[in-house]
Amino acid sequence: MKGIVLAGGKGTRLYPMTKAVSKQLLPVFDKPLIYYPISVLMLAGIKDILIISTPEDIGAYEKLLGDGAKLGVNFTFKVQEQPRGLADAFILGEEHIGGDRVCLVLGDNVFYGQSLSAALERAVAQPSGATVFGYPVADAREFGVVEFDDNHNVISIEEKPEYPKSKYAVPGLYFYDNSVVEIAKAVKPSVRGEIEITSVNNEYLARGELKVELLGRGMAWLDTGSPVGLLKAAEFVEAVQSRQGLYVACIEEIAWRKGFISDGGLRAVGEELSMTEYGRYLLSLLEG
Ligand code: TTP
Repeated sequence: MKGIVLAGGKGTRLYPMTKAVSKQLLPVFDKPLIYYPISVLMLAGIKDILIISTPEDIGAYEKLLGDGAKLGVNFTFKVQEQPRGLADAFILGEEHIGGDRVCLVLGDNVFYGQSLSAALERAVAQPSGATVFGYPVADAREFGVVEFDDNHNVISIEEKPEYPKSKYAVPGLYFYDNSVVEIAKAVKPSVRGEIEITSVNNEYLARGELKVELLGRGMAWLDTGSPVGLLKAAEFVEAVQSRQGLYVACIEEIAWRKGFISDGGLRAVGEELSMTEYGRYLLSLLEG
């Protein structure tokens, strides 16, 4: 399975912070925001990862991440000229996806929780169709929202409804079979002028091939799109890390635990960062 991180956009809700800096490069406590979605793909066992960003910002992501060899993964990069919508990821990513299945994660989505790895494994194990998630939120109006019938079957997904029909929002983490490329190409722009991922999901639903897995309250899906959301996400990460002594979304640690890199590989990245707590944490993992 291939992975895509969509890390473009304008980030207007974070102006002036994001006037000159890409949103997904902003820090969430001790690491850039994009580490969090990358960690999700790596936890899903995905090693071939395409990073999509704007013409102005793509170079910064290449500088930050390199080719991925230090993490035992393969990063490639693609420019999105205009923020045409989330489904554009599959059009821009057509060559990267090839004949494979694909997981898309939005560059500003932070996930953390015990049930995450198991949910990822189930989605990866699904040989065809699509898997998306439903997550309860206090105010679902800003999201794609799942509508259920009385038997909990999914009837539709509505994009940014004024009156949400449930409290289940669809987070920015989506698994698709290879049909997604053709489906995305056929999506017509919405009234706000974007090719919506919700249209892709509704096409899978119409084909009877959409699985919506509900995520429970034990799982954190954090918003980083506003200044308060960004601050709260940083506080959450700091609280977990300082309490447990275990890092959230540490991509070097995940690479090592997944066997993508050896002890020597982890030591090399740890030593490069040994002037920081982050680097010392990496080195401490080798002491068991
Ligand atoms: P949004 O939050 O919809 O947009 P944004 O990041 O530009 O923020 P704002 O609303 O403050 O202007 O985007 C969700 C994520 O998807 C975010 O990580 C940016 C990314 N994105 C793209 O890379 N390309 C796109 O065409 C769109 C619509 C979003």
